[in-house]
Amino acid sequence: MGRSTQRTQPLTPMPPEIIITASLPPFLYEPLKADYRCDDYYAAADKPGLLAAQGATIRGLVQGGGTVTPISLLDALPALEIISVFGVGYDGVPVDYCRRRGLKVTHTPDVLTDDVADVAVALILMTGRGFVRANRFVHAGDWLKRGPELTTKLGGRTVGILGLGRIGKAIAQRVSAMGMHVAYTGRKPQDVPYRFFPDLKALAEAVDFLVVACPGGPATKNLVDAGVLAALGKKGTLVNIARGSIVDEPALVKALQEGVIKGAGLDVFADEPNIPQPLYAMDNVVLLPHVGSATRETRQAMGDLCKANLDAWFAGKPLLTLIPELR
Ligand code: 8YV
Repeated sequence: MGRSTQRTQPLTPMPPEIIITASLPPFLYEPLKADYRCDDYYAAADKPGLLAAQGATIRGLVQGGGTVTPISLLDALPALEIISVFGVGYDGVPVDYCRRRGLKVTHTPDVLTDDVADVAVALILMTGRGFVRANRFVHAGDWLKRGPELTTKLGGRTVGILGLGRIGKAIAQRVSAMGMHVAYTGRKPQDVPYRFFPDLKALAEAVDFLVVACPGGPATKNLVDAGVLAALGKKGTLVNIARGSIVDEPALVKALQEGVIKGAGLDVFADEPNIPQPLYAMDNVVLLPHVGSATRETRQAMGDLCKANLDAWFAGKPLLTLIPELR
């Protein structure tokens, strides 16, 4: 009898195992399943069971932009190497913990900038020009009975941007093209043709629209508080396309109820999809279901980039879009 010719090693190595902690669109999930062993934590009925059975071998994690990843989950993944966020915002990732553990974190900047900026402009138009009310007016047949309300000219008004990053700059370009003035606040002044305010309250006082465009997370939690809303005042509308956590939501509801500010256009909320009940009934508030990046083209590009980062890592190649804190 000769030696057995049976191979003890498979011809190709096992694909890396990854854990999915958010509901992903098929155009991302299917390609992931083709190239990785995927553990669907998001949909798993027995999450502790999944972690006990697979936790030791999981090397990658894919989550959404708004997904909160608790340290307790990461502690249950001792072989984890990388978190790839399907979104530009990674405020749900404990970055300091990741740095200490040497975990890589990637996100999907740039590809969604234009779409998110479009939504900010849409919210300025919908609130400022009353387009949502006007749409309801026509649908209700009221135009047959009377003329529409007059609203406010946007050209010549000032938009204040909290956080002049990629998205903030794209918003500034768009509203400038509409003849609006731009001012901003942030960590430091930039080489841009817009007025810088070192202080958020002073910015709020000076503008007609205050647009929240900074990252979420502990550093910006409740930055837009009752004092900032009071400074924005009756002439001012709050627009938020960033993260609900940046605005003190109860204070916002109160400011709207008491007529402290003129209105609000909101794409993001503190506890999505739950929205404070009083907002539903307010005519001066426009509510969107977190659709900043929600076009087919952009979500596809985000999905491609999210997977490309994982692919690069497991192929030993440089990461495409590592988060700035870990560069
Ligand atoms: C979400 C977002 O990520 O990019 C972000 O930070 O908030 C959105 O684009 C999207 O819902 C996918 O998770």
